[in-house]
Amino acid sequence: MKIIGTGSALPSLSVTNEMLSLFMDTSDEWIRTRTGISERKIISDENLTDLAVEAAKRALKEANMDGAELDYIICSNVMNYYVTPSLSCLIAGQINASCPCVDLNAACSGFVYGLDMAHAYQMAGKAKNILILCAEEPTRMCSWKDRNTAVLFGDGAAAVVVTEGNDFKASYITAKHRPEILYYQRPLEDCPFVKYQQRGVPLYMNGKEVFKMAVNASVEGIERILKETGYTADQVDHYILHQANIRIIETIRTQLRQPEEKFPHNIERLGNTSSATIPILLDELNKSGELKNGDTVILCGFGAGFTAGACLFTWTIN
Ligand code: ACO
Repeated sequence: MKIIGTGSALPSLSVTNEMLSLFMDTSDEWIRTRTGISERKIISDENLTDLAVEAAKRALKEANMDGAELDYIICSNVMNYYVTPSLSCLIAGQINASCPCVDLNAACSGFVYGLDMAHAYQMAGKAKNILILCAEEPTRMCSWKDRNTAVLFGDGAAAVVVTEGNDFKASYITAKHRPEILYYQRPLEDCPFVKYQQRGVPLYMNGKEVFKMAVNASVEGIERILKETGYTADQVDHYILHQANIRIIETIRTQLRQPEEKFPHNIERLGNTSSATIPILLDELNKSGELKNGDTVILCGFGAGFTAGACLFTWTIN
């Protein structure tokens, strides 16, 4: 498998920490020093489906491919206006695709899970050209009265097109049963046969536990794929990690004993866009020319579940 196109689309509204401190008991200083975030993009008058379609079109354009040539669309999404049809089905009709579509929910690990799934489909001979899309709107899951969560998130969408090739070397995905440290419950309709109310609760997070799980699962996943592929940590040129907290990225980097320049980040500008963080950053690095032909790249994500995933590939898009 190889990546032949990337694309992303972001909301137009930038919300700074100062703007949040006008209606929430928080400060720029607290948010920046605890998370690394200065501002984030938040959906205001756009909608998530339109951003996802735009990201998909940009990835297809770079891949020089029409939507009709896609064999499969995998969309990582936790939250959008429709529960059904799936977001991937909504998008397919707008990019001229008529292939099977599926949404997956592996929370913030969704992009690595999506790549792993695409690879398995290719290996099974069931699909060749696959769009993997991450479109997320976590700002509609957290309570805007909860400073513990609301300051962390931003919205966005990003996509890659993959086809057959030999760039993708290994992936490793996991899920550990820790639902109590990070969850969001959606309200359900009342039903005359159900005796209790199902109201749902906004996003809940035990930040310290998530922090520990994130570091441990990421280091374990990265070491596992290094072992499997025979690469050393030093031979990897770019570690593109889930952008949840700059301190998490720093801790992982320190444990792997790697220099700062190998760990690009955009969390300061975009916050945590759930599964979209990794493909947005990948697209930025691709478009800015920072990824060079032949570079070795590791992607690593983690999220509610507790899910985690890492993969290693050679970059040869040009
Ligand atoms: N502004 C000001 N004060 C705040 C804010 C805020 N936005 N949020 C919390 N505080 C307060 C707390 O109430 C607490 O006050 P107290 O001591 O009076 O009780 C104090 O700040 C310290 O809180 P801690 O929990 O100790 O802060 P910590 O250093 O652990 O940082 C954080 C919190 C940033 C959430 C951190 O634990 C973290 O990043 N955890 C990882 C979670 C994560 O990245 N989640 C992203 C979403 S999930 C995902 O992507 C997988």
